[in-house]
Amino acid sequence: MGSDAFDTPGKERTTGTSRRQFLKALNAGAVAGPIALFGRGSAKPDTHVPLSGTFPGKKLTRPIPRIDCLEVPGMRTETISRSAARQIYDRLGASLDRADVFEGRAKARALAALSLAPRQRVLQVGVGTGTEQAALRHAVGPDGLVVGCDLSRGMLQLTRQRADTPLCEGDVARLPLRSQRFDRVFSAYLLDLIPLADIPLALAEFRRVLRPDGRLVLVSLTEGADLASRLFVAGWKLVYQLDPCRLGGCRPLQLADLLERAGFIVQRHVVVQRGFPSEVLVGT
Ligand SMILES: C[S@@+](CC[C@H](N)C(=O)[O-])C[C@H]1O[C@@H](n2cnc3c(N)ncnc32)[C@H](O)[C@@H]1O
Repeated sequence: MGSDAFDTPGKERTTGTSRRQFLKALNAGAVAGPIALFGRGSAKPDTHVPLSGTFPGKKLTRPIPRIDCLEVPGMRTETISRSAARQIYDRLGASLDRADVFEGRAKARALAALSLAPRQRVLQVGVGTGTEQAALRHAVGPDGLVVGCDLSRGMLQLTRQRADTPLCEGDVARLPLRSQRFDRVFSAYLLDLIPLADIPLALAEFRRVLRPDGRLVLVSLTEGADLASRLFVAGWKLVYQLDPCRLGGCRPLQLADLLERAGFIVQRHVVVQRGFPSEVLVGT
């Protein structure tokens, strides 16, 4: 199966993967050739610093230097800015893997809900440290295609070390990818941290890049479902009010209605792990 998934913006950069995978993703010069083929040098050197206080229950070593979290200094917006998100996730690096003790089960459920088969084409937006890229790649086999997209070059670099998949630097609200190219789109704990006004844009992008019979699977922090998770979320919101950067910008969402408005038929499951509630949404 040839890949013509990438758009041709020129300024979008792809990074890291084998020559064969890039050739698959390139097909007909879809991305700027030299950058795509030899993209290993396109990301900045590793600038990660140790994580501090970002995940509940973890005593961490050094504080993250203060980041100007808000769009307008001194004014509380509903989430963090793009530049803050980029800085936070660049710095978090592999420490983000620690979130697995809260998120692992929901992501496992989401991966199962993708119902992957050999030869399929899968897009993951918000690849994080790249753990799922390798699993997705394995599931679609050598004739399938897995593409990863993320805003943070630090995260793309980590993913590059863990998976042999084409990666691109891009924003979920404006994906550098062609329409109707993917059988599956997967995104976990990403919409939680973008501005509410951008969520319909992101959902429209997911719909656009999916084939008409494609499937979208999303995972987000959500509202509590039992006493323990309600208490957990109450505490989370308190910290969030004080400093959303400490929580990676993530706040609880309930996205089923928005997903329906974006044209999907939706199934919703809630998974609670150590009091941390996640919603897994399957849109077809
Ligand atoms: C909370 S992490 C989740 C990572 C991964 N999906 C996981 O479950 O471990 C959010 C990820 O989304 C990326 N991200 C944040 N804002 C983004 C945006 N506007 N467009 C694309 N990726 C974004 C971050 O760089 C980070 O890798």
